Formats: sequence, structure tokens, C-alpha cells
Amino acid sequence: MSDSHQKQHYDKVAVNHGLSALSSIKDHHIREAELKYINFCLETYGHQGKSLIDLGHGNGHTLKTIREKYESIDLYGIEYHEKMYQLSCEQNIENCTLWHDDMISTEVLKKQKFDFILTERSLVNILNLKNRPKVCEQIYHGLKPGGLFIMIESFSETWIKMNEARNEFQLEAIPISHHNKYLNEDTIKIFKKKGFEEIEHSFGRHYLSTHFYITRVWHPSIRQSNAPMDNSHFSKFFTKALPPSIGEYSPIQFRLFKKTE
Ligand SMILES: C[S@@+](CC[C@H](N)C(=O)[O-])C[C@H]1O[C@@H](n2cnc3c(N)ncnc32)[C@H](O)[C@@H]1O
Repeated sequence: MSDSHQKQHYDKVAVNHGLSALSSIKDHHIREAELKYINFCLETYGHQGKSLIDLGHGNGHTLKTIREKYESIDLYGIEYHEKMYQLSCEQNIENCTLWHDDMISTEVLKKQKFDFILTERSLVNILNLKNRPKVCEQIYHGLKPGGLFIMIESFSETWIKMNEARNEFQLEAIPISHHNKYLNEDTIKIFKKKGFEEIEHSFGRHYLSTHFYITRVWHPSIRQSNAPMDNSHFSKFFTKALPPSIGEYSPIQFRLFKKTE
């Protein structure tokens, strides 16, 4: 898929979902879990008087939710899709500076330093693999020494595991959307080589694994034809009944990196 197809994809997202929390992800539980993980990072490492920049902030839902919970953190965002950027401006988030810019080339990360940098399913939009080291460089530059990179991104290794589990029930593999290119452990090597140390945290890198097994493997394997799957009672019941973080079946992983210098 070309960048212009990706642009068309987000044109549709902006028109169809506007300011909705479900704009970039249809699944309520995933969105809530991502926000819970961000809160966990801010509670664990401190938010008073700190700064956070969200790269690829979409319609600004996450920044708005952070602002509602934490009054004193300085918020920033960078979004390169014009309509998504315009939507984020409509959120009128207090003490939040938003730029219409590209995280790969922006001067913001060269000139300013932040305590936290967040990417929430936006690095996967970088389709040209040559740009991954550039973004790594940008994030490194944009962080204060000891600053944290909160990475919420999809990985091909756990996407493969999810599809292996589906295959046990003769379910077809779930493809990767054309506007995404999942990260992998080689991407992590780029970050470590640059000077990032990975922090293993108690929230759980594979927090969403149980939910993905329930909704992408178990439920589709037993459901009656045409029964609804999205946000179903079945998935809500078992996601609540079972502990999170069982197995490694979620492509979306919650990772955390510290700038070591
Ligand atoms: C899947 S959406 C996620 C949006 C938001 N993080 C959220 O959780 O709702 C990915 C967003 O990243 C933006 N994006 C992708 N590549 C970007 C880049 N190079 N610079 C800035 N924004 C980018 C897209 O336009 C899109 O709005």
C-alpha cells in the first residue's frame, strides 16, 4: 500500500468516526487497556510537572483522556494526517500543543526534550522500513536523559502465534491491514543499539493476550454463523472472568524503553 492509500484510509476514519474513542480501534477493551497502561506508566514513573508527547495522536482521544486524569502534565502531539489533526484541535485540550507534522522529519523532536514519548499504534503506519531507524533516532533525541518511551505497537511474532492458534481450529489467518507494517524483534534491536534499555514492567507486555485469544481464536471457533463478534457478551464475559496476560497471542504489545544516557 502506498502512502496515498494510507491517507485515503484515514480520510474515511476521520469522516466515519470523528472524535469517537473508537476512531482508530473498534474494540472497547483494547482502547481501555491501552489507556490503563499509559496511566500505569504515569503513576509508576511520576507525572507531576512532567511532559508527554504523543506521536501520531490521531483525533486526540488519548491526550484528552490523559488531561482529564492528570492536570499538571504538559501535553504535546504530532499528527501528519490533516483531517485527523483538525479533529484533535476540535478537542480543545487544555495545556496541550499540537503540531501538524511528520514524526519522521519533524524539527520538534530535535529542538525540544520530553519526559515521555508515546506511540499508540502509529509506528506500524511507517511502511518504508528505511524510516524505522530515523524514527528511533527522532525519539531518542526527543527524550530527556532517563526519559521513557511508551510503545504500544503490533508485532509480527505474536501475530504469527495468534494465527497458529486459529489454525488449530481451521480458522483462516487474520491478515495485517494494508496500511500497517508490524514491528518485530529486529526493530527492538534498532532501539537497543541506539541506547534504549527495555524495562520489564508489572503491567505485562502481553496484557492483551487473553483478550485476543478469547476474541480472535476461541469465540470464532464456536460461534453460530452470523452471531455478532465485535464487543460481544461472550468476549466481555470471559475477558472479565479470566486474568489478562495469558500466553502471547496479542499482536499489540505494551513495551517500555528508557533512554540510558
Ligand atoms: C492507528 S492511528 C492511532 C491514532 C492514535 N494514536 C490513537 O490511538 O487513536 C495512527 C495515527 O498515526 C498517524 N501517523 C502515522 N504515521 C505518522 C507520521 N509519520 N507522523 C505523524 N503521524 C503519523 C496516522 O495519521 C494516524 O492518525
